[in-house]
Amino acid sequence: MNRVLRERLISIINRIPLHVAVIGLCLIWILPTLGLLITSFRPQQAVNETGWWEVVKSQEPTSTAYQTYCTDCHGANLSAVPSIDLGASDVVSGFTNTRRLAVTFNREYNGAVHIPEDQRPDDESLREILDYLRIESGAIKMPPRFTVNNYKDVMVGYDARGGTYDQACEEEGPTPTRSCDFWEDATRSDAIFKGVLNSFAVSIPSTILPILLAGFAAYAFAWLDFRGRKVMFALLVGLQIVPLQMTLVPVFRLYADLGLNGSFLGVWLFHTGFGLPYAIYLMRNFIAGLPREIVESAYLDGAGHWRVFRVIIMPLALPAIAALSIFQFMWVWNDLLVALIFLGNKAPVLTYQLSQLMDSLGGGWHRMTAAAFISMAIPLAVFLLFQRYFVRGLLSGSVKG
Ligand code: HEC
Repeated sequence: MNRVLRERLISIINRIPLHVAVIGLCLIWILPTLGLLITSFRPQQAVNETGWWEVVKSQEPTSTAYQTYCTDCHGANLSAVPSIDLGASDVVSGFTNTRRLAVTFNREYNGAVHIPEDQRPDDESLREILDYLRIESGAIKMPPRFTVNNYKDVMVGYDARGGTYDQACEEEGPTPTRSCDFWEDATRSDAIFKGVLNSFAVSIPSTILPILLAGFAAYAFAWLDFRGRKVMFALLVGLQIVPLQMTLVPVFRLYADLGLNGSFLGVWLFHTGFGLPYAIYLMRNFIAGLPREIVESAYLDGAGHWRVFRVIIMPLALPAIAALSIFQFMWVWNDLLVALIFLGNKAPVLTYQLSQLMDSLGGGWHRMTAAAFISMAIPLAVFLLFQRYFVRGLLSGSVKG
C-alpha cells in the first residue's frame, strides 16, 4: 500500500469517532422532533392508541381474529346468521366499545350461550374484530393516516373531547363561541394566533431593548476611562447569578404600585433587567477584543463617541449581537413563568396557551403536539435567519492590508 493512501485511510479512521458523535447528537435532536411532527399530523384516536412510529404499519383491519372466532356461525360474508347481519352499519355502530360487544357473548340463543367461556376472544382479538366489523360494515370510515385537523383545532381553539372542529361544524353548526368560518374563528382572542402575536409583542422588544442598552454599556466599559469601571463591571458579573424567582414578589408589588401588572411594558422591563447583565458582559468582552487601531484612528479623524459606536463598533459587533439576539429571543419566547405572573390571561402568550391545552387527565395530546410545533417553528426560523452571522468572518473586510 503506498504512503499517501495509508495516510488518507488513517485520517478517515481518525475521524470516525467525531462522525459518530455528530450523528448521535443529530439523532438525539431529530428523533423527538420527528415524533412530535408526525404525532401532530395523526388523527386523535390514532394518537391515543398507538405510538407515532406505527404510522408505517398498514392500518387495514385484519380479518384473522374474526375468522378464528366468528366465521363458523356468522360466515365470511358477516351475514350467515339470518336474524343478525354483522355487515349492516346500524347493527355494528350500536357497539360503541369492545365491552358492549363482549356482553353479547353471555346471552343465550336457542338454549345455548352465544360463545362459551373458553372460546371467547381475548381483549386484543376483540378489538381487532370490532375494528374489522366497523370498517367492513361501513359503520365508520377508515380514518386517514394523516390529518391537519389538529392544527385546525388548535388554531380555532376547539377543545371538546373527541371529535374535531370540522366535525362539530358539520354536525352542530355555528354556536355563540364558534362561527364555523375558519378565519373568523382563528383570529378570536383566545385562539393561538393571538397568542403568537402576544408572544411576538413580548419577545421582540424584550430582545432589542437589552441588547441596545447593553451595546451602550459595553462600549463604555470597553473604551471609556472612568472611575469605578472595574468595580462596576465586577458587580455586573456578580448580578448574573441573582435568581429571577427571588425578585418576583418585590417586582410584582412595585408593578402593582405603578400599575404595570398585566401590561407589556412590565414584561419588557423585567426581561430587559434580567437580560442586561449577561448581555453587557458578553458584548463588553467582544468589543474590547476588537483591534484598538480602528477605533483610535477614528478618534484621530475627529469622530465622536456616538459616531464611532454607530459606524464602527455596532457593525463589527454584529456576530455578538446575532448570538445574543438568538439566545435572548429564545429565552423570552419559551418563557412561561414571567409571562404567567405578569401577564397571565390578560394577554395570553403562546407558552401560556400551550400550558392550557393539556387536560388534567393527560388528554389532548394531539392538539398539544400541533401547538408545540407551531411554537417551535418560530424560534427555529429566527435561528436559521440569523445563523449566517455566526459563520460570517468576524472582521472580514474591515481592516485593510
Ligand atoms: C356458535 C355460533 C356463533 C358464534 C361462534 C358467534 N356467534 Fe354471534 N350470534 C350467533 C347467534 C345464533 C346469534 C343470535 C341471532 C339472534 O338474535 O337470533 C348471534 C348474535 C350475535 C350478535 C347480536 C347480539 C345481540 O344480542 O344484539 C352479535 C353482535 C354477534 N353475534 C357477534 C358475534 C361475534 C363478534 C362473534 C365472534 C367473536 C360471534 N358472534 C360468534 C351465533 C354465533
